[in-house]
Amino acid sequence: MLVLIALLCFFLLPAIHLVRWSVQAIQHRREQQLHQPSLHLRVSRVRRQRRYLQLTLVAADGQKLPPARAGQHIQLFGTDAAGQPVSRAYSLAQDCRHSHFYRLVIKAETGGRLSSQLFDTVQAGDLLQSSQPKGHFVLTRSRRPLVLVAAGVGITPMLAMALQGLRQRRPVTLVYQARTEADLLFQRWLSRLAHLRFIPVLSQPDASWSGETGHINAGRLLQLCGYQGDYYCCAAAQMTAQLKQDLALAGKTLQAELFAAAASQQELSIRYRDIQASAAGFSSVLDALNSAGACIPSDCRGGSCGLCKKRLIQGEVIQMLDPAAPLHSGEVLTCCIQAKTALVLAD
Ligand code: FES
Repeated sequence: MLVLIALLCFFLLPAIHLVRWSVQAIQHRREQQLHQPSLHLRVSRVRRQRRYLQLTLVAADGQKLPPARAGQHIQLFGTDAAGQPVSRAYSLAQDCRHSHFYRLVIKAETGGRLSSQLFDTVQAGDLLQSSQPKGHFVLTRSRRPLVLVAAGVGITPMLAMALQGLRQRRPVTLVYQARTEADLLFQRWLSRLAHLRFIPVLSQPDASWSGETGHINAGRLLQLCGYQGDYYCCAAAQMTAQLKQDLALAGKTLQAELFAAAASQQELSIRYRDIQASAAGFSSVLDALNSAGACIPSDCRGGSCGLCKKRLIQGEVIQMLDPAAPLHSGEVLTCCIQAKTALVLAD
C-alpha cells in the first residue's frame, strides 16, 4: 500500500501538474494572441495601378516591426465612407525577413467598405492602425517540393511563401491564374526570380500570349506539378473549394486561404436576438448581421480568433472557411459561414 502511495506521489502528481501547467500555458498564449496591442503604422509609399493599391507601411515611431511568418496577414482598422469602424485582413506581400516595413496590395472591390475607401483617400504620411501579423496560413519547414496556387490578388501571400520555400532549398512551382496579362501582379519580378518555376495561366489572353491558357483545375495542377509536393492555395472561395475537393479525391491535401468570398445572392433571413438581417449582398453571416446593427465582435475574420462565435439554433449554413478556433457542437464562426437556408442564431 505504501509503495502504491509512493508511486502515486512520484509519477501521478507531477503528471497532473504538468497537464495543468500545459493547459494554462495554452490558455495564456491564446489570451495573449487575442489581446496583442495594435500597431500604429505610417504610410511611407503609395502606388495606385488600375484597381490595385500598393501600400508600404512603417512603424509610426520609426522602430522595427513585429516579425511575420511567410503567408501571414495583418488586420487593418479604419472607417468606411459613412464613418463606421471597419477592419479587413490583408496578406503581407513581401519577403518576411524584412522587419522595417509591411507591404500590402489591396484590390479596390466594388462596394468594398475599407478597400474602396483606402483606394480613394489614403496618402503617404497617413497613420493607420493594424493588428500584429497573424494567421494559420503559413509555410511549414520541409524539403518536399512546394506547389503554390494563386488567383488574382491571392498572389500576395505567395510572394513570401515562394521566397521562403526557395530558402528551404525546395523545388518551388507557382501557378498563377489571372484574366489577362495586365492582371498578373508582380509578373516581371516573379518571372525573374531565380530557381522559381513560374506558370501564369490566363483565362482571357490576347493574341500575343504564348503561355498557358484557360482555368486551373486539380487534374491540370497534378499534371503540371506532380503528386509529390505540398500544395498551398490563395484564391476566391469557389475556386478554392473546388480545388480542395478535387485534390482530396486524388489523395492530396490543399492548405488554403481565401482572399474574398463572393457575396451571397440569396434573400435568406438571419435572426440573432431581436436583429433581423438578410444574407443577400454579404460575404458572411457576420457582415450581414453587423450591417443590420448586431455589433458582433470580430478580429481576424478568418476563423482563428473565435470572437464571432455564435450558436446555430436553426437552419443550414455554407462553410466558406475552415474554422481554426475551437468550437463545441452546434457552434459556428459567423465570419466563416454564409446562409444556406433561413438561420436563427443565439449567444
Ligand atoms: S472574427 Fe475571428 S473567428 Fe470570426
